[in-house]
Amino acid sequence: MGDCGRVLNFSAGPSAVPLEVLKTAQREMLNYDGSGCSVMELSHRSATFDKIIKSAEQDLRDILSIPPNYKVLFMQGGGTGQFAAVPLNLCPKLKEQKADYVVTGTWSQKAAKEAASFVQVNEVFPRPAKFDNIPPESGWKTSPDAAYLYYCDNETIHGVEFPRVPSVDCPIVCDMSSNILTRPVDVSKFGVIIAGAQKNLGPAGVTLVIVREDLIENPASVCPSVLNYKITADNTSLYNTPPTYSIYLLGLTLKWIKEHGGVEGMQERSAKKSKALYDLIEASEGFYVNSINKSCRSRTTIPFRIRCDEALEKKFLAEAEKAGMIQLKGHRSVGGIRASMFNAMEVEQALRLIELMKTFKAQNQ
Ligand SMILES: Cc1ncc(COP(=O)(O)O)c(C=O)c1O
Repeated sequence: MGDCGRVLNFSAGPSAVPLEVLKTAQREMLNYDGSGCSVMELSHRSATFDKIIKSAEQDLRDILSIPPNYKVLFMQGGGTGQFAAVPLNLCPKLKEQKADYVVTGTWSQKAAKEAASFVQVNEVFPRPAKFDNIPPESGWKTSPDAAYLYYCDNETIHGVEFPRVPSVDCPIVCDMSSNILTRPVDVSKFGVIIAGAQKNLGPAGVTLVIVREDLIENPASVCPSVLNYKITADNTSLYNTPPTYSIYLLGLTLKWIKEHGGVEGMQERSAKKSKALYDLIEASEGFYVNSINKSCRSRTTIPFRIRCDEALEKKFLAEAEKAGMIQLKGHRSVGGIRASMFNAMEVEQALRLIELMKTFKAQNQ
């Protein structure tokens, strides 16, 4: 158990929020900055909230060095809303247009399925029997006239993460929901970056979109206003009532990231946590098994099996829970165990899981 009886939370989302952020929010809960109100009671058009949303945007711009020709949008509807928003904003002629999709797991598969309601979807390689690798780019069958190429940087369920940004001629759209701000990215390589906040950026409810200015000019005429990048940008994310409290917590989380070494600091923490876990898995002589190709193993969502033995996995989960470690059960579609270790998880906390795994192996092999 950690501070105030808090557990060690390995949830894939909504996920742990840094303790300092929660404490600041607690302190400011009843009377934010002398306003006499909680942030959740403030008008989204008040000067006080204006400062909150503007400073969140500026902090994100600083952390990721976002070029000035990119808009930062705070939207709603989660990653799932963006699966529809992307084709609706980038393909004014809808079914007359093509989009390339790189399907490497559940989330890109869902994105491709949603997009197929609006545009012609070309999957750049046949669906594999198992999502455990990223086929080499040289073999991808891209469309010469694609409006964009879409991929998911980190497949949260399968634990497949892109080691680098693909190189293609059309704008790249990337879902970074489960690895944003865990390593530096060159934003200028992307047309659109989307990310739900509830893993690395704070609480659920706000969805981040970073989009190159020229790509927002021609949405499909049927694109709903709440999914429309141009309307959102022209109204500085205040076209309708935004998720004000989520934006406030996202802002606090960004300040916390800045104070902890920025994106480089987060990258270093992420590398230490994931290396320690993979090293243990590899040294376990098949007791713990992660079957993802080494070139694309995730640093943030790490699935593994324990001898493919469900009874043993159940026992492990029960022991973990007793030790105050929760949400380690793998996604229902793949089973096994999954350790999600986003920015808020300290290295020392990840090492506690590794200690538990060592002891469990010694007692059960
Ligand atoms: C990589 C990724 N993309 C998209 C989603 C969908 O997000 P939401 O539930 O916010 O719609 C998830 C959810 O966990 C995810 O992990």
